[in-house]
Amino acid sequence: MDARKFAGKAIGEIGAAVGDGKAISALSGGVDSAVTTVLGHKALGSRLKVIFIDDGLMRQDEPREVRDAFAKMGIKVKVINAKKRFFDALAGLADPEEKRKAFRHTFYQVLGEAVKASGARFLLQGTIAPDVIETKKGVKTQHNVLEQIGIDPKTGYGFHTVEPVKSLFKPGVRKVGRAVGLPRSFSERMPFPGPGLATRCLGEVTPKRVAIVRKACKIVEDATKDRNAFQCFAVLLADKATGLKANGKRALGDIVAVRCVQSKDAMTATPTKLPWPLLERIRDRILKACPTVTKVLYDLTGKPPSTIEYI
Ligand code: XMP
Repeated sequence: MDARKFAGKAIGEIGAAVGDGKAISALSGGVDSAVTTVLGHKALGSRLKVIFIDDGLMRQDEPREVRDAFAKMGIKVKVINAKKRFFDALAGLADPEEKRKAFRHTFYQVLGEAVKASGARFLLQGTIAPDVIETKKGVKTQHNVLEQIGIDPKTGYGFHTVEPVKSLFKPGVRKVGRAVGLPRSFSERMPFPGPGLATRCLGEVTPKRVAIVRKACKIVEDATKDRNAFQCFAVLLADKATGLKANGKRALGDIVAVRCVQSKDAMTATPTKLPWPLLERIRDRILKACPTVTKVLYDLTGKPPSTIEYI
């Protein structure tokens, strides 16, 4: 693929779809929405409003880092604080698809309101090929694939979607990102699921549980920075395991799984052979930062038979 040619064509297509109207781009900080936003900005200039929905499920410091990085590229990002709405919607849900449904509905409700308030009729989305393929195959319903699961975004939420990178896989998206001048910290960023830390918190998603997995994820990401992993993160399991308190008494505590995988396009993956001393450092940091955790596990399964994430 010629990334420059692809970008030029995508910019033309966005311009043609939106006409002389306005569009909104919902930036998440991930590479797909970042590339989509830059393409949209090139096509529409100030007629593209960029918003970042802070759902409370992002990685540490993400809203601020994304806003600052895009400001440096001359793209203004409006942060919408919707944390309470997402936690209210997720309260009491443990089933993965129920959580996805609640996340998706809240996400598009908040987005629909922002689109309405801005007078835009179009939403630019960073949907990519595996999102569509996995939803169609019934592996999981990705949060951004609306039409494929029978939702008409116009009737349901009040906007049309424009999906300029829908035909691409991750390496292609990164290539286009580099071609349009996206900083490498974004074009090479590891994938992060749309429903964010809600996918890494098995069982109920509460602010307290998300805070634990957020800290653990940051520790894993920092410790494996130079490993060239496709994806690495931590997951808070739904079960509890016995541990020992400082006074020697038994107490049930949280279990955190550490995952680090190599992959080309997320369709298959193999676990990374992390050195034992590095795993020990990760374990120690997680136990220190998250006092309710009593067990830290390393996940050795590939995709298939596993998936990369846990839900
Ligand atoms: P799995 O877990 O299916 O993940 O092996 C494949 C890739 O997709 C990401 N992923 C998601 N992305 N919404 C998303 O936007 C989701 O619900 C979701 N689940 C998984 C995952 O991080 C990996 O890169």
